[in-house]
Amino acid sequence: MALDLSNIRNSFPIFENKTFINSCSKGALATQVQHAYEAYLKDWAELGSPWELWVDQLEEFRSLVAQLLNAHPDEIGVTTSVSASVNALASSLDFLGKRCEVVVDDFAFPTTAQIWHAQSARGAIVKHVPETNHEIPLEQYEAVISEKTALVSLTHVCYRNGVMQDVSEIIELAHQKGALVMLDSYQLLGTMPFDVNVAQPDFLVGGMLKYLLGSSGLAFIYGRKSLIPTLTPQNSGWFSQDNIFAMDIYQNTPSSSARRFESGTPPNPNVYAGIAGLKLIQDIGLDSIDAHRVDITGAIKQGAKERGFQLVTSEDPSKHGPMITIYSNDPAKLVRLVELEGVVISHRDSNLRISPHFYNTLNDVDRLLDALTSHKEMLV
Ligand SMILES: Cc1ncc(COP(=O)(O)O)c(C=O)c1O
Repeated sequence: MALDLSNIRNSFPIFENKTFINSCSKGALATQVQHAYEAYLKDWAELGSPWELWVDQLEEFRSLVAQLLNAHPDEIGVTTSVSASVNALASSLDFLGKRCEVVVDDFAFPTTAQIWHAQSARGAIVKHVPETNHEIPLEQYEAVISEKTALVSLTHVCYRNGVMQDVSEIIELAHQKGALVMLDSYQLLGTMPFDVNVAQPDFLVGGMLKYLLGSSGLAFIYGRKSLIPTLTPQNSGWFSQDNIFAMDIYQNTPSSSARRFESGTPPNPNVYAGIAGLKLIQDIGLDSIDAHRVDITGAIKQGAKERGFQLVTSEDPSKHGPMITIYSNDPAKLVRLVELEGVVISHRDSNLRISPHFYNTLNDVDRLLDALTSHKEMLV
C-alpha cells in the first residue's frame, strides 16, 4: 500500500469501533472536519455575524473545487445539492426549438433523471439509454443521441452497481452530434484525478458528502466558461447576481460567472466542513488515493472470487470506480447481519455495495470477507 495509513486512520474515530466501508453513501467523519464545524460555532458565538469571513470562505471553497477539477473558480457554482445544481442548469435550457430532447443513461441517480423528466412541462422529451447486463455500450448512446438532443445527462459511476463509464468517448460522440453534456461525477470525485479539460464535459455536478469527506447541504456545478454567458437560469436569487449586495429589486442581473447557478444564502457551516474535507484530500493527494483505491478494490475482488461470491462489478479495473458490488439473494438482511458484526456496507437492487476510501486497510477487507463468509448462503 502506497499510503501511510497509520497516521491517516487516527483522524477517523469511526475505526475505533467499526469496519466502515460505505463511503458511496457517506464518507467517514474526519477530526479535521469535526473541528471545522466546531470553528463555525465558535465564530458564530464570538463574532456574531461575520458575513465577510463567510463570503471569503465561500470563495475559498469555490477555489478548492476548481483545483479538484482543474477548472477556473469562475466556472464553479456552489449549491446545496446535486439536485439544486441540475435544477439551475435545467432552468437555463430551452426545449422549444429543434433540440428538444434530453438523453439520460440508465445508470442515472434518480434525482437527475427525475429533474429532466420534470422538464417535460417546459417541452423537453426525455430519452433513456438502456443498460444491458450492467453495461451501456457506446452503440446504445449512438442510437439515442441525435440532432434533436439538447443535452446528454451522463453518469460517471453508477450508484447501484459501481460501473464507471468511459465518459470521454461518450462526450466526444455527443459533441459530434452537437449536444451538450452534463456529467454527474458524485460517485467518483475524491477517489481519482479528474480533469474537466481532458474529458471536456460542458457541465459537471457533484457534492461533498461522500468521498470528499464533507456533509450534506453542500454541492457544486462546473460550467465551461465559454458557455456560461449563453445560459440564464430561471432559478435565481441574490447570491446568483452580478453584485450580490446591489439589493436591486427591479431586475435580475445574473453573474457573468458560474455563480449564476447559485440562489440564496450559502450553507456556511457546511462550507467550513467542505474546505476541511477538500484540504484533506489535497494533502493526501489524488494520485496516492487512486493507487490505494486500485489496490484495495483489487483485494476485495480477489477475495470475493476466491470465496465463490458473484461479483457484479467487472474484474477490469478500468470499468469500475471506488465501489465494488457483489450479488446477494437478500442484500438488505445481509447488510443488517454484517452490521451486527461491526461491518458497515450498504445495498441497492440485489447488490451489496462495498465502497472503500483511502482510510480503509487490507485488514478491513479481511474483516468484511470473513463477515460475509459466515452468511455464505445469502451470496448464491
Ligand atoms: C450519482 C449521484 N448523484 C446524485 C446524488 C444525490 O444528489 P443530491 O445532492 O441532490 O441529494 C447521489 C447520492 O447518492 C448520487 O450517488
